[in-house]
Amino acid sequence: INSRFEMKESGLRLREITDKMATGTATEKPKIVWNEGRHRFETDDHEAFIEYKMKNDGKVMDLVRTFVPPSKAGLGLASHLCVAAFEHASEHSFSIIPTCSYVSETFLHRNPTWQRLVHSEDDSKNLKSSI
Ligand code: COA
Repeated sequence: INSRFEMKESGLRLREITDKMATGTATEKPKIVWNEGRHRFETDDHEAFIEYKMKNDGKVMDLVRTFVPPSKAGLGLASHLCVAAFEHASEHSFSIIPTCSYVSETFLHRNPTWQRLVHSEDDSKNLKSSI
């Protein structure tokens, strides 16, 4: 009886988790796409995004703004957008300027391994925008 009860319990818990995933309240990985034309990494519905400007002849990616609508705030979406931007920069050997305060004050503090991509002060003297 006990084990049957436990199975029922764990079945219920599993259902709770899948329900949460379906409504987006759990930490499932959202799909982030690169919108090259608008210089953004964004969600499928374009509602949440991280915007960049390329500098130094396309070698430096300045992350200027992150936006997540209030209805989706606090679920880690901004963090997923940052990861997409940092992974892209890493794949293309770009360095990053964390102009957006979410990137500099929150994302990099919580994910210090990405600091390795941050553009050093010395190299920033002659930054020029290329877009
Ligand atoms: N600067 C730095 N960190 C911020 C912030 C800001 N302006 N606004 C919120 N945060 C931090 C909070 O400390 C929060 O911490 P918590 O997890 O302890 O609550 C954390 O971001 C939440 O992280 P996450 O869930 O990954 O972020 P999110 O998906 O809710 O989006 C913003 C965060 C800032 C992108 C979103 O609130 C937003 O679009 N705000 C309006 C625009 C803005 O201020 N953008 C940042 C400057 S360009």
